Formats: sequence, C-alpha cells, structure tokens
Amino acid sequence: MKVLFFSTMAFEREQFNKFNENKYDIHFTDAELNDLNISLAEGFDAICIFVNDKLTESIAKKLHDYGIKIVALRCAGFNNVNLQACKENGICVVRVPEYSPYAVAEHTVALLLGLNRKIHKAYNRVREGNFSLNGLIGFDIHGKTVGVIGTGKIGRAFCHIMKGFGAHVNCFDLNQDEELKKLGVNYTSLEEIWKTSDIISLHVPLNKSTHHLINEDTINQMKENVVVVNTSRGGLIDTKALITALKLKKIKGAALDVYEEEDKLFFHDLSESVIQDDDIMRLMTFPNVLITAHQAFLTNEALEAIVKTTYSNIQAFFTGSGELHKVN
Ligand code: NAI
Repeated sequence: MKVLFFSTMAFEREQFNKFNENKYDIHFTDAELNDLNISLAEGFDAICIFVNDKLTESIAKKLHDYGIKIVALRCAGFNNVNLQACKENGICVVRVPEYSPYAVAEHTVALLLGLNRKIHKAYNRVREGNFSLNGLIGFDIHGKTVGVIGTGKIGRAFCHIMKGFGAHVNCFDLNQDEELKKLGVNYTSLEEIWKTSDIISLHVPLNKSTHHLINEDTINQMKENVVVVNTSRGGLIDTKALITALKLKKIKGAALDVYEEEDKLFFHDLSESVIQDDDIMRLMTFPNVLITAHQAFLTNEALEAIVKTTYSNIQAFFTGSGELHKVN
C-alpha cells in the first residue's frame, strides 16, 4: 500500500517511520497539497494531509482520476476539506478525532500565563542582564471570570485547569456537558460570555456558524481589558477587528496559536523572507500579543497518538477491520 504524506515536517517523518513496521510503502513530501502539487499523488493508494492543506473541489476530482479513495487527515479539524466534493468523487475522508486534548489545553494555559505574566519579555530581559521588573505586572487568574466557548474534549480539559486555578468558569456550547456542571462550571449564553469574561478562550471548530465569532460587534460587547486566547482556528477571529481593538486598548491582550491566513506562513522558516502579510506583522508589533505557530498539539504523547490513529484509519479502510474515524 503506497501512501504519500503532504506537508511533512522532519519530526513527523521520524514518527511515521518509527511506527510503520514496514507495513506501508510510505513517501513524504514537504510540498503542500494544492493544484500544482497534486500530481505528486499519482500512483499512490492513499494520501495523508495536515491542517493547512486545502482539499478543494478540483483536487477531489484529480484524486478521483488517480483512483485514490481515501484521504487521511492527521489532525482533528477538517475545515480545510470540501467534504461535498469528496463525497461526489467517492473519496472517504478520515481524521484523528482525539489525540491529546491535554496537549492543546495545556498550551492554551501556557499562552495565557506567558502573556499575562510577560514571560517572553522577562526571558529576554534576564538574558541581557536586565533584572528590572518595570512593565512586568500581570494579574491573578484566581477569582477572575473565564469564558470558554466550546466544551468538547479540549474545552473541557481547559475548564478543569481553570477551575484548579480558582477561576469562575462560564461556558457556551451547543451541547452542555453534565460532568463539567458537576465540577462547578456554569453554562450561559454567548452574550453573557462577552459581557462578563475577563478571559475568553475559544475551543469550537471553524465552520460557517463560528466564522468570525469574534468580530467588531462581539468585541464591543466585551468587558474593557479582556484577554482573548485562541488555540482553535484562526478564522474564528476577524483579525482586522482584533487589531483595531488592540489599538484602542479595548482588548488587554491576545494569545494566539492560530491565525486566519496561517497557511501561507506557519510551519515554514520565513526568517530570510520579506513577509507580505501586513496583518500578522501588525499583530507581531503589539507588546501584548503572544503568537505561536499552531503548535498547541505538539507533545510526544499527541504525536504518537496521531501517527497510530492515522495508520489504523488507513488499515481499517483497506481491510474493513478496526475503527474508521470518518468525517464524511
Ligand atoms: P470537539 O469536537 O470535542 O469539541 C468541539 C465543541 O464545540 C463541541 O462540544 C461542540 O458541541 C461545540 N460546538 C460546535 N459548534 C459550535 C457552535 N457553533 N457554538 C458553540 N459550540 C459549538 O473538538 P475538540 O477536540 O475539543 O477541538 C476543538 C477545536 O480545537 C478543533 O475543532 C480544532 O479546530 C482545534 N484544535 C487545535 C489544535 C492546535 O494545535 N491548535 C489541535 C487540535 C484541535
């Protein structure tokens, strides 16, 4: 069975080789999936793609022409896949629905703490022999109101940590989690989340109903000095509205692991390039914005689970035995 992995990074190749056990004929490319590169897939039985590979209608048609019937996403989100086009072209799309919600929830907390306690600034200062504390004042999370939007696997893990910090946790989700309620979190409306939260953290998937969930209108409903954290998908936030709110000091700070236009930037070393995306460049100039490049999932435990589920998905598809985590 020949499998081509698009958009691979060195650490992923290592993991996929380690767990392959010579079962599959695996090939890696660092090329992303697009109309130019799709021809690389010819002759393969399956392809494996990542968060920023866009599986469009034209690519679904090409895959059909090449006789490829399965696309394995090595991630949980699938907003980058045209599911209708895949269905029409007889392509089964599988994903890794759960690998380590703790990895993402813990990174969310790392970003929140880093931003709040200005760890990134302190680290640089101390390395330069500057031991001054001016400008490093943060706030206690204990006693603050944290608004969590989306209480699925990751949001739930984040709620547990925030309760441990002694925060008041208000949540919004289409489905309420009874276990979380027992923990003492409170389900409320989105309006209430905007109005009452000192910290807002996003954990919903990106789809039509959640696109630009944070926009000019919802920002206007927020408390002054709110901190916004997004480790879910960039498209949940209207970047231009966020920049305006940061300039007006309506938002106290933003911690972001994802960005609307990240597919052109993240996972690439652009340190020698002139970056053309003015919005990310503006975001990077704020002292109260902390950005990581979609690394919330990046723990050993999560990587191992991603690799194992991806292989078991492919095996289940071709052999009919085992669990197939189908998206469509
Ligand atoms: P999940 O499917 O367990 O939970 C999503 C929750 O969102 C569900 O409870 C669902 O009811 C709720 N929801 C869906 N639409 C909603 C809406 N319109 N309004 C309110 N609630 C809504 O997903 P999980 O595993 O918790 O992941 C959440 C998101 O985190 C993923 O969709 C993905 O975008 C992102 N993610 C980011 C990673 C990173 O490395 N930064 C890694 C993994 C996931």
